[in-house]
Amino acid sequence: MITTEITIPLLSLTTPRVLRTCKSYPLAKEDELSTLFIASYPKSGTTWMQWIIFTLLSLDNPELSDKFTHISHFTPFYEIEKTWVFPLDESEESVGSLNSTISDNHHKLGYHVFNTHLPYNWLPKDEKTGSMKYIYLVRNSKDVAVSFYHHLTNQIDDNQYSGEGGFSQFLQDFLDGKIVYGKWLYHLSYWLPFYEENELHEESSGDKNPILLVQYEKLLSHPFEEVRKIINFLELKNIPDERLQEEVLPRLSFDYMKQNLSHFSPISVPWKAGFEFIRKGKVNDHTGCFTKEDYNLHEQSMIRDLVALSNRDISEISDIRVNDLVNDMIWLNQFKTCIGLSDLE
Ligand code: PPS
Repeated sequence: MITTEITIPLLSLTTPRVLRTCKSYPLAKEDELSTLFIASYPKSGTTWMQWIIFTLLSLDNPELSDKFTHISHFTPFYEIEKTWVFPLDESEESVGSLNSTISDNHHKLGYHVFNTHLPYNWLPKDEKTGSMKYIYLVRNSKDVAVSFYHHLTNQIDDNQYSGEGGFSQFLQDFLDGKIVYGKWLYHLSYWLPFYEENELHEESSGDKNPILLVQYEKLLSHPFEEVRKIINFLELKNIPDERLQEEVLPRLSFDYMKQNLSHFSPISVPWKAGFEFIRKGKVNDHTGCFTKEDYNLHEQSMIRDLVALSNRDISEISDIRVNDLVNDMIWLNQFKTCIGLSDLE
């Protein structure tokens, strides 16, 4: 199922004029640079991927890496006001243009690179020239929930998440789609069917799939293979295996990023003292946090969402095995363990 009309809770920084700009900004026509979107549900390894891309693109440009101070100067958050400049005589149709500092940095990098949590349908497309690419990251839903809880209860802003009720209340809100960017499983459904559609198109036409899927857990366990896939996807020629192993991978590690935290902690909001945005970087971190009730809540909610996405009726649920539901949704198959249901592991 491909969803075209979507309502999801957005950040207050994602104003209507920004959203309009995000959908229609003619990046491909503005200059000769290609565009890469690093897309994900929040807390799925977005910043890590931003750093991977910056590292790969700046490898032969030591001046760029020497002057580097923060990742968001090069791979900014696509759907926020400060990425754009709006005309003074703004109308209801006008769109912003790219902030000039970001634009300059993109020219130094040789690529427009943005991070985004928006659905695929809300981003610009350039099917003809192939100059628009998307990397979509997926991470286990339970670990995402834990990471998101720590994020929201440690950031200080006007619309701060209260944290009242502790993790279990947060989990309920997260599973109900009340947290910014809505339901995790629905987010996957805003991206993965398009990947499948593009795969089929690639088979029949030879046009390359503009979407690359990357799983957080695999990136952690097999960084060499996964980063090689990214290099191939971007068609970068200057990175043989030895260079990847010795020069690139050490800089992409969790420890390296944690030691250089100030380069990666989002600067749009202040953080409570002691919180480290590059926090734990672990697979199955939820095991120390979920109670038995949390597991049940998560399981029931995921099953309800799977039923809804498969266009079935909830009353059929006793007759439907969860595995069959997932198998029906081809687009979900390769990420079924990320749903975090015991049936599927
Ligand atoms: S955000 O706020 O949506 O941009 O967050 P995002 O960057 O997507 O996700 C943050 C989590 O990614 C972990 N991280 C890493 N894990 C492993 N290796 C590396 N190098 C790495 N860099 C960031 C980060 O620690 C957050 O996960 P948690 O579970 O909170 O530690």
